[in-house]
Amino acid sequence: MAKGFFITFEGGEGAGKSTQIELLAAKLRAKKYAILVTREPGGSPGAEAVRHVLLSGAAEPFGPKMEALLFAAARSDHVEQVIRPAIERGAIVLCDRFIDSSRVYQGVTGGLDPAFMEVVEQVSINGMVPDMTLILDIDPAEGLKRAAVRRSPNDAPDRFEKETVSIHQQRREAFLAIAASEPQRCVVIDASRSPSEVEDAITTAVFGGLEARMTAGIK
Ligand code: TYD
Repeated sequence: MAKGFFITFEGGEGAGKSTQIELLAAKLRAKKYAILVTREPGGSPGAEAVRHVLLSGAAEPFGPKMEALLFAAARSDHVEQVIRPAIERGAIVLCDRFIDSSRVYQGVTGGLDPAFMEVVEQVSINGMVPDMTLILDIDPAEGLKRAAVRRSPNDAPDRFEKETVSIHQQRREAFLAIAASEPQRCVVIDASRSPSEVEDAITTAVFGGLEARMTAGIK
């Protein structure tokens, strides 16, 4: 492969993204692809330093604009230090959350101006648009229940998990609206099914995408 393939995973809390990313990474490694697994906010030393500020809620009092710019600063560092070099080496990059989380969490439920969000997004990614985005879709009530089970008893819900189900419902709808408006990039995966059914759906989408890319000779 001349250039790599950039896949992002999006969706609400407790949709099973990290489990599915690990399963997919193992499957792709078995086929001898070079794989990089990463996540946001974080994924590079600079971005990990910002992660704590965001998820602890330390930036919350300064408003959604401040949070959006911090997510963007973290993303820019992550793209330039980690994602772009991996894509240029020909790796498949699997990233847990990316631009759509900012569009949804800061843009839609943070109430920020879409024009502002668009400029910030462009600056943060500098052309690194995902080749494929898998949106793991689940009823937020179910997702939050799963997220609570996975959390250790001493951990409190993070800055975003602690929000109301109705806010998470708006996020679900916003992710689905992005998928509808960018069908060439986004694939919606019904994450309410069993992990192995979800895994099968993801495998089909990803291998289909890789094949299409090969035959089209894109990039
Ligand atoms: P984390 O515990 O890493 O993951 P997850 O919910 O994916 O298992 O939490 C990341 C939180 O940050 C999550 O609630 C979504 C939020 N977030 C944003 O609000 N904007 C962003 O741009 C990103 C990347 C994440």
